[in-house]
Amino acid sequence: MSVDRGSWSSKFGFILAAAGSAVGLGNIWKFPYITGENGGGVFVLIYLVSVAIVGIPIMISEVVIGRASQKSPVGAFSFLAGENSSWKFVGMLGVASGFIILSYYSVVAGWALNYTFMSLTNFFDGKTAEQISGTFNTLYSSAGINLFWHSVFMILTAAVVVAGVKKGIERWNRILMPILILMFIIFAVFSIFLSGWKEAVEFVFYPHIDKLKPSGVLEALGHAFFTLSLGMGAMLTYGSYLDKKTNIPQAAIYVSLLDTAVALLACMVMFPVIFTYGFNPQAGPGLVFQTFPVIFGEIGRAGMLLSFILFTLLVFAALSSAVSLLEVVTSYFIDEKGWDRKKATLITAGAVFLFGIPSALSGTGLLFPEWQTMYGKNFFDTFDYLASNWMLPLGGLFISIYVGWAMDPALRKAEFETGGNFSKSWYYKTWLFFLKFIAPLAVIAVILQRVGIIDFDILF
Ligand code: TRP
Repeated sequence: MSVDRGSWSSKFGFILAAAGSAVGLGNIWKFPYITGENGGGVFVLIYLVSVAIVGIPIMISEVVIGRASQKSPVGAFSFLAGENSSWKFVGMLGVASGFIILSYYSVVAGWALNYTFMSLTNFFDGKTAEQISGTFNTLYSSAGINLFWHSVFMILTAAVVVAGVKKGIERWNRILMPILILMFIIFAVFSIFLSGWKEAVEFVFYPHIDKLKPSGVLEALGHAFFTLSLGMGAMLTYGSYLDKKTNIPQAAIYVSLLDTAVALLACMVMFPVIFTYGFNPQAGPGLVFQTFPVIFGEIGRAGMLLSFILFTLLVFAALSSAVSLLEVVTSYFIDEKGWDRKKATLITAGAVFLFGIPSALSGTGLLFPEWQTMYGKNFFDTFDYLASNWMLPLGGLFISIYVGWAMDPALRKAEFETGGNFSKSWYYKTWLFFLKFIAPLAVIAVILQRVGIIDFDILF
């Protein structure tokens, strides 16, 4: 059994740790660039709907499974569904997803580390927007720089996980999450004064239905899973450290709201810059690194400080998310294979590092350039696409089916209601309805559409 079971200090501690896992590169790096690539408003709308009708019900389910079993994903399913049940594979799928996601997540976090150091040298001061874009391209295509920062970030992540996450992570998140949100509010206020602000608001919030692409729907749903850390048992694992006093539905709603607020704030900082300077919103993964430094470069010394603060916060946001990814993989080997925490962390982090090398080299053209020609995506994009658009929604689908249809109803209801004041039973009934019907059907519909079995386009 688990060597290192602990618990959060309070409900607030859990909310912060779960929000620390949820708020990460997905909000600040990924959400703005995929919003840009998918035409803005409609994409944002589908994403918000996905969070509300699929994300929140599944987040509650994961925490319910975690707290009911007090175990990490694979163990949780064997505990609840029986040692020989095939539900265990849902846990395994989660471990595999965590492994794949972390392998390229660490590469992006490495870029953030690099930008933190560039801020210290006041690199952006007086540079033009073109020069700043060019810097990202240089970084992206350099094998040495990518490998170096990828390894630094994996070492940092392993260091936190080896020490046992709970105290460290909870304590850091308590300080850093509020600062992160405050900084983004300040930047978003600055952005209001840029000439491209109006255009940005229109781009992000006004849904032009004609810009809706079927692939965008899957991407929005997949991103709802990614950004809320769902579909692979990370929230399940965090839920296993939760006490019986906490009201799970309420905590899940706070975490989701916080996560969504940071994603929207990030857009409201970045898109005004993009439209003011005539950048291309479809610039892809480099977007955050090519926009922020432009504002910083314009405000001289103060810009250097702000830039340093911002990228440091981005690194911490990435770290608290990466830790939850590695924790799922590591705790599998601790709980199921009986390894001690140190051995499990070193071996899994080492393996993730090696598996991430092709992603780290994606921009260099050094490793199998044919891959990109054949599949139209480099390694980095392939892994991201596979994990966030397929593995997480499938994992989430199975989780919703398990909790909705297979789990012991009395245990399910008890976990949902413990810690809250549920004199009104419609809370529970509403959740169950979304979990049993809406969430699985939404995921299945989107997947069938993607594999081409049904064509919703004829409906429009
Ligand atoms: N949610 C994090 C982000 O937005 C990434 C992440 C952490 C994650 N743990 C996860 C994604 C578990 C999926 C599953 O950056």
